[in-house]
Amino acid sequence: MRTSIWSIMGSGLLTVGLVACTEELSMPDRTEGAAFFADNCVSCHGVRGHGDGPLAAGLPTTPSNLATLSRRNGGTFPDARALSYIYGDPMQAHLARVMPQFGGAMAEDLVPVEFDGIMTPTPRVLAGLLAYLESIQE
Ligand code: HEC
Repeated sequence: MRTSIWSIMGSGLLTVGLVACTEELSMPDRTEGAAFFADNCVSCHGVRGHGDGPLAAGLPTTPSNLATLSRRNGGTFPDARALSYIYGDPMQAHLARVMPQFGGAMAEDLVPVEFDGIMTPTPRVLAGLLAYLESIQE
């Protein structure tokens, strides 16, 4: 009898613990990233990330092909490099480059993402975006 009461209580606590954990650690996935990509990147990089969006022809620099990031990096998705390029450098907003910077305003909602073995607080939208970019590698 005693054992069963403890196990009932135990499983109740475990469930509460798991729910709390899942909520805290819910990570953005590629679906979230796909939506952000459609809203912010397709105009230049194109629907499939090939660098052929509707604005591409009018730009002084051709947008990169984002589906070959891994291939151009020896087969490994260059997550840290892609993230820092997309995020930009808020201290150097005058930096001469064609692509806008997506850092700044998103620095509020951070999730931990592992880059080169180090957990790094990363804007949630960009973590989802990286998952999406990695999924479209050819
Ligand atoms: C106004 C057009 C434009 C928009 C919008 C844009 N990009 Fe770019 N992007 C470029 C251009 C042009 C380059 C080539 C380098 C440069 O001149 O900035 C580039 C380069 C990149 C690179 C570096 C690729 C490499 O080969 O290392 C990444 C990663 C990237 N873009 C991702 C994105 C993502 C993700 C978004 C949406 C959040 C986005 N870009 C929105 C124009 C754009």
